[in-house]
Amino acid sequence: MCYFCSTIQALVGMNYTINIKDRSQVVVGSVAEWLPRLLPERRVVVISDTNIDRHYHSLVGDFDHILIGLGETSKTLHTLDAIYRQFIELGVDRSCFVLAIGGGIVTDVAGFAASTFMRGLEFGFISTSLLGQVDASVGGKNGVNMDGYKNMVGSFSQPRFVICDVSMLRTLSAREFRTGLAEMIKAAVIADKELFSLLEEADFSALQSDAHLLADLVYRAIRVKASIVERDERESGDRRLLNLGHTLAHAIEKSSSKFNHGEAVACGLNLVAEASCRRGDLAPEQNERIRNLLERAGFELEPPVAVSQLLKEVNKDKKAEGSAINVVFPHDIGHCVVEKMPVEEFKAMFK
Ligand code: GLY
Repeated sequence: MCYFCSTIQALVGMNYTINIKDRSQVVVGSVAEWLPRLLPERRVVVISDTNIDRHYHSLVGDFDHILIGLGETSKTLHTLDAIYRQFIELGVDRSCFVLAIGGGIVTDVAGFAASTFMRGLEFGFISTSLLGQVDASVGGKNGVNMDGYKNMVGSFSQPRFVICDVSMLRTLSAREFRTGLAEMIKAAVIADKELFSLLEEADFSALQSDAHLLADLVYRAIRVKASIVERDERESGDRRLLNLGHTLAHAIEKSSSKFNHGEAVACGLNLVAEASCRRGDLAPEQNERIRNLLERAGFELEPPVAVSQLLKEVNKDKKAEGSAINVVFPHDIGHCVVEKMPVEEFKAMFK
């Protein structure tokens, strides 16, 4: 039996389901098993990208397809415009259901297109990247980038379902897979010390093909995010915890193209954990565990540009509130605290 078939078999019947805000069902399980159950009996329009379409067209072959370009450069108003025009050409109306199949870029753009076209169509996701499954596709944030600022234009709108089939992660490159691991480690540091221990014990060279362990880890990471989104859907409080490591990660991504998002998050997480340790909020042993896990997962923790250079970008963070920013500090593994502080105070911690 081929690997793909055997992992699908392994996943049949092994399902984890999480509901968010009673509107969104996130399932870690077999797409072959769950898609027929979750797809409504209506006209469906699929949004995907050329790469994903090549792999999974047969899964949903009969529906109209809209394909977008690859990579972060496709996350633009221009792509949205093209989608709206194709919706109009296809005669899409409010009775249609939009099914996005892809990683975080496809689901962010498709979710925004669906939630705004004709004031909102229902939509669901099949999330095909580890980053998408543990973060981007879950929680109802949709949007596009603008003028170099990430997710500057978007909506909070929950997908009716998100299917996370870990056997689909088999085709990811090692680098793409690792970028999702950064968000998984982030989730563990925020609120799940058992997940952190499981990751410490994991053999990262075998994880991508260990469907059972991977499904469990993905489920745990989603559970961290879901419980936060359940408390604070629109990021006026606890949802800020999910930005752990992101203040400097965004600065890294703006200053250099060397790191992808997950790599920048890993580096930003390590820097803020070290700062937390210097302030006496995080014990040195816990700081060491975070650094060791990130290193063992294969992340480079030296920023690609000098920290002084990164700090220049921090003022421009779109989440800055006037001259203050909300910074997430690890106080323990599984426990983080959001502190609002003047940008200058944040910068002083790294001097
Ligand atoms: N990726 C952070 C959030 O969904 O709030």
